[in-house]
Amino acid sequence: MRKNILVTGCAGFIGSAISKKLIDNKYNVFGIDNLSSGKKKNIPKNLKFIVGSCNDQKTLNKFKNINFFSIIHLAGKVGSEISSYNPLMDCENNILATLKLLEFAKKTRCNHFIYASSMSVYGDLGAKPVSENHNCNPKSYYGISKLASENYIKISQNKKLKSTILRLFTVYGPGQNLDNPMQGMISIYLHQIMKNKKLIIKGSDKRVRDFIYIDDLTSFFMKIIGNKKFFNQTLNVGTGKKHTIKEVIKKLRIITKINFPVIFKKSTPLDQFYIFPNIKKLKKFINVKSFKSLDEGLIRLVFYLKKIYD
Ligand SMILES: NC(=O)c1ccc[n+]([C@@H]2O[C@H](COP(=O)([O-])OP(=O)(O)OC[C@H]3O[C@@H](n4cnc5c(N)ncnc54)[C@H](O)[C@@H]3O)[C@@H](O)[C@H]2O)c1
Repeated sequence: MRKNILVTGCAGFIGSAISKKLIDNKYNVFGIDNLSSGKKKNIPKNLKFIVGSCNDQKTLNKFKNINFFSIIHLAGKVGSEISSYNPLMDCENNILATLKLLEFAKKTRCNHFIYASSMSVYGDLGAKPVSENHNCNPKSYYGISKLASENYIKISQNKKLKSTILRLFTVYGPGQNLDNPMQGMISIYLHQIMKNKKLIIKGSDKRVRDFIYIDDLTSFFMKIIGNKKFFNQTLNVGTGKKHTIKEVIKKLRIITKINFPVIFKKSTPLDQFYIFPNIKKLKKFINVKSFKSLDEGLIRLVFYLKKIYD
């Protein structure tokens, strides 16, 4: 019999990609999204969808009679910048939503709760890769919310409800919202380059990130669902390769073949400077050699975007 999976944030970048992959892998997929940043057109056809917020009990109750094999919690207000303008909204959509969903998971006897946390839980640590057992000192309201959610999840772990916390580093690829100037570094840059033939960078080009391609992430999720190895684990999820923004700009110039000017402006509020994962723990679970390099991912993404911008 097909297993039931609930994907929250199914209209968003990562949620829609995971939902498609789940349907391809013969899962019975249900979804919740309040469409605050996600788009209905992203949701795959065979998904049973309800519009609403995870922090709204009435919305959750619509699925109360379904026994979910797994809940993949991706819904949330994403990013440090947006959290700085409205911390209360951040708290409601990132903390409260997680807590309500956890209660729902317990009541509906869900087996495995998978949470998309973020590198933002760490804060700024200086020039060293960060491992999962490092102290978390979030710099933004968003980071605080992600860490609080992690803690609620950890305290809810028991024999019945298993969970996996994934600290995602910067995810990029087709499907990312191109019109949102506050979310997604690569999508923000490529939108400007391919549409306006110039690039405004907010912050230093010495900042460091690790970029993971969306297809690698969705394939990884398929390995986790209901897999005992991942129960009650917290994992950094990235390629383990660090890139400065300066390197990214250089790659984008070569791959897009557009000789765009770069204008530097002041940093966005609460942005992390140097953040790069130690992925030793991840390597014990999967073979990360299959992850695409940044060059390979960017070539694929630019090829995809040319159809949109040309
Ligand atoms: N994209 C990244 O680089 C990245 C990195 C680290 C962590 N994450 C995490 O992964 C998850 C998905 O991110 P994404 O990039 O797909 O963002 P996204 O904005 O594309 O998707 C989030 C989705 O959640 C929906 N949503 C927001 N609040 C909601 C609520 N209260 N109830 C129901 N739906 C709600 C939005 O409408 C949107 O469709 C987020 O939890 C984010 O914190 C993403």
